[in-house]
Amino acid sequence: RHSSGSELEPEEEPSSSEEEEEEQKQETEKCSASAVSSAEKPEEGARKAVVEQPPTGPSAPASQRASNKPSCKPAVFIPVDRSPEIQEARLKLPILAEEQVIMEAINENPIVIICGETGSGKTTQVPQFLYEAGYASSNGIIGITEPRRVAAVSMSQRVAKEMNLSHRVVSYQIRYEGNVTDETQIKFMTDGVLLKEIQKDFLLSKYKVIIIDEAHERSMYTDILIGLLSRIVPLRQKKGLPLKLIIMSATLRVEDFTDNNRLFSVKPPIIQVDARQFPVTVHFNKKTPLDDYSGECFRKVCKIHRMLPSGGILVFLTGQAEVHSLCRRLRKAFPYQKNNTAGGEDDKEDSVEEMRKFKKSRKRRKVMTLPKIDLNNYSVVPVDEGDEDRDADTDDDAAGSDIDLDLGDGDSEEDEKSDSSLPLYVLPLYSLLAPEKQAKVFRAPPPGTRLCVVATNVAETSLTIPGIKYVVDCGKVKKRFYDKITGVSSFRVTWVSQASANQRAGRAGRTEPGHCYRLYSSAVFMDFEKFSAPEITKRPVEDLILQMKALNIEKVVNFPFPTPPPTETLAAAEELLIALGALKEPPVTGRLKQQLAAKLSCPISPLGRIMATFPVAPRYAKMLALSRQHNCLPYTITIVSAMTVRELFEEFDRPAVSEEETAQLKGKRARFLQMQKIWAGQGPMQKLGDLMVMLGAVGACEFAGCTRKFCEENGLRYKAMLEIRRLRGQLTTAVNSVCTDAGLYVDPKMKPPTEAQATYLRQIVLAGLGDHVARRIQAEELLDDKWKNAYKTALLEDPVFIHPSSVLFKELPEFVVYQEIVETTKLYMKGVSAVEPEWIPALLPPYCHFGKPLENPPPSYCPQRGRVRCHRPSVFYRVSWQLPAVEVD
Ligand code: CDP
Ligand code: MG
Repeated sequence: RHSSGSELEPEEEPSSSEEEEEEQKQETEKCSASAVSSAEKPEEGARKAVVEQPPTGPSAPASQRASNKPSCKPAVFIPVDRSPEIQEARLKLPILAEEQVIMEAINENPIVIICGETGSGKTTQVPQFLYEAGYASSNGIIGITEPRRVAAVSMSQRVAKEMNLSHRVVSYQIRYEGNVTDETQIKFMTDGVLLKEIQKDFLLSKYKVIIIDEAHERSMYTDILIGLLSRIVPLRQKKGLPLKLIIMSATLRVEDFTDNNRLFSVKPPIIQVDARQFPVTVHFNKKTPLDDYSGECFRKVCKIHRMLPSGGILVFLTGQAEVHSLCRRLRKAFPYQKNNTAGGEDDKEDSVEEMRKFKKSRKRRKVMTLPKIDLNNYSVVPVDEGDEDRDADTDDDAAGSDIDLDLGDGDSEEDEKSDSSLPLYVLPLYSLLAPEKQAKVFRAPPPGTRLCVVATNVAETSLTIPGIKYVVDCGKVKKRFYDKITGVSSFRVTWVSQASANQRAGRAGRTEPGHCYRLYSSAVFMDFEKFSAPEITKRPVEDLILQMKALNIEKVVNFPFPTPPPTETLAAAEELLIALGALKEPPVTGRLKQQLAAKLSCPISPLGRIMATFPVAPRYAKMLALSRQHNCLPYTITIVSAMTVRELFEEFDRPAVSEEETAQLKGKRARFLQMQKIWAGQGPMQKLGDLMVMLGAVGACEFAGCTRKFCEENGLRYKAMLEIRRLRGQLTTAVNSVCTDAGLYVDPKMKPPTEAQATYLRQIVLAGLGDHVARRIQAEELLDDKWKNAYKTALLEDPVFIHPSSVLFKELPEFVVYQEIVETTKLYMKGVSAVEPEWIPALLPPYCHFGKPLENPPPSYCPQRGRVRCHRPSVFYRVSWQLPAVEVD
């Protein structure tokens, strides 16, 4: 065939228009070839359709082209057998009206951006359009990336169902699992999975189309993928194997992708899908509650349910614990199962009382109506008190429904009574929830009930819940914050951005006009930041930089980031990777500044290449790379899995709902502490500290067969244990693929490590967490009471402490190494192990300051330099540890 010749690199590069034509020709030929095999259509027909396509410049906006050209059906059409109900539901989606415009734009441009309000049908429909147009075939499939695992799994299931195809054809792949087969034609995956694939095959040759979904979320991997794909797409074009890139966003804020000439040389067309959004009336609270927003949510839901016409309620809270506690309260107040009224009475009376108070205050509240949520314009103008005209407008608009939906007018007894007996069908929704429980929100609630979903941020854009008419927005979100340099992280509950608040409000107007109750004042809203900053600018990037170096992108500063991370973040990452030995250190000469510049372009080392193949953070990857010695690998894999999964243990410190529960929690906590001690072992084992506890907990749990019962009895989180098991399997495979002779098999039922192994494990952990060494301030060094029992770290000026949940909390070893520092009331180290000072110079020379040889002095710590001081030719090199030569082929 003709195309086989042009797959060779052309000697002379064709001019851009020729190249474009060439690309189109081959593109369509590929499509038609695939169509012939799968749909048995005559090849001639497909060819003819190509000829009819008028050539159009890639930069013309799609909407213009669409208006002045004849209908351009795709060259091929792969029939899909959808059920009548599905077909009917699809036809209601706004994106269906744009199918032709979208497909024309994709046929004619290598890169296309699609913007459409959440629920317009982007994620579920665009892959189907492409499939029908023959973009998926034996020589290339359709890939879709999602920033969240929940979305990747649930969307693949939804699309398979809509298309009436098996999961072997419409599949998903997330970090731990997937159902991809040889037959897969549409593949949903997390953005991290695609990044790994680029490492193995830079040209992504098995894909014909890549769709980057939820680009507005600006997750770090999404950003980096867009940067990489901006280079891969032209490369594929040159090779004569064109790749289509589609970027999908729920907002129109895409200028970081389009007006960025480092990224795309030709501005890609933007297709805007009409939102078809029903008007949402936004109600602000007069006052902003300071902390009890959860209680405020409860009161608001009670009022809505008692006083307003049918329609689902969606509540936005910040975290899993909050979601559950509100669900419990609501279920008690409006039991779905009639027999389950115990304890509900208090809450009910509570809410009646609250409603009384609320009615008194209602006159002072502000109400405003948005005629339609406009993607372009999120600026909400609050109605000033006493602004008569506007108030009148507001009432008019709301008068569309029988009851004034400003809750406050439901004064009459009838209103109150009318709905209060109706059960509320309360469902939680958050990302760690089991998939089958998540799926419940998509189904219709049982007849005679009202749906109420209590959700975290996942319901903001990734998932669309049908039938929501009322949104209750606490205005907060829980986010992980990182210190740019030290990487110290803390979870903080902060105000959302205006864009997020408007997205949340928009969830109320999908099927009919809706209402959004904001539990904060319009003045507070005005102070929200407009958009939240891209993730890449807010977190440490060492994992990302290692992945990029593995792709031989040495000068990361020159990479076309949609929004570049701050230089100091890049420098911190590069420095850490050098210290870990993942990058080759530059010859240090010249001034500091030059050093810094040089550091930002260090090439990857052989060790770094191995580390990059492990799907864990660089510090952990280093531990894995070292662990073949002394048969430590199964243990390190377990420790790393446990540290990655986080929160192995049930939370006993959460506020209890009742006194009975307080007592229960106390009992559980005591029993758990006892277990912890047993798991931590004794002597050398115990020095491994919290990591030994993790190892012991996993070991014991696996020994018992990893049952839910065992976990509940011992304060372990069952879900975390299952996840650790999966990750252990996956890491074992990853290790085996690097060290082909390892032939490792991790037996879920591990034997405990020997004492010697426990010591080696501490050394391995130290080698990986070298910048996380801390030394306890000794009594004679105490300057200030705030340093009592405190540790000094290399990275922070302030005292840090061992977290009370640690088994080393009372031991207080002189030198420790920690997994992370979390800031709550103080700076706390979590995941703590004890280390011997003499290991430090042997294992962490980059962090040590070597002085003149002396008579056997002990290593000491120099707080000014944040370094351990020790002395060269010393006995300390004769520790029972060898820095291994990592073997590469
Ligand atoms: O991606 P986008 O937000 O534009 O929309 P989508 O996720 O493709 O959803 C389109 C429609 O499919 C929405 O109205 C959802 O309610 C519906 N849907 C559903 O009913 N069940 C699912 N599991 C997923 C989506
Ligand atoms: Mg979507």
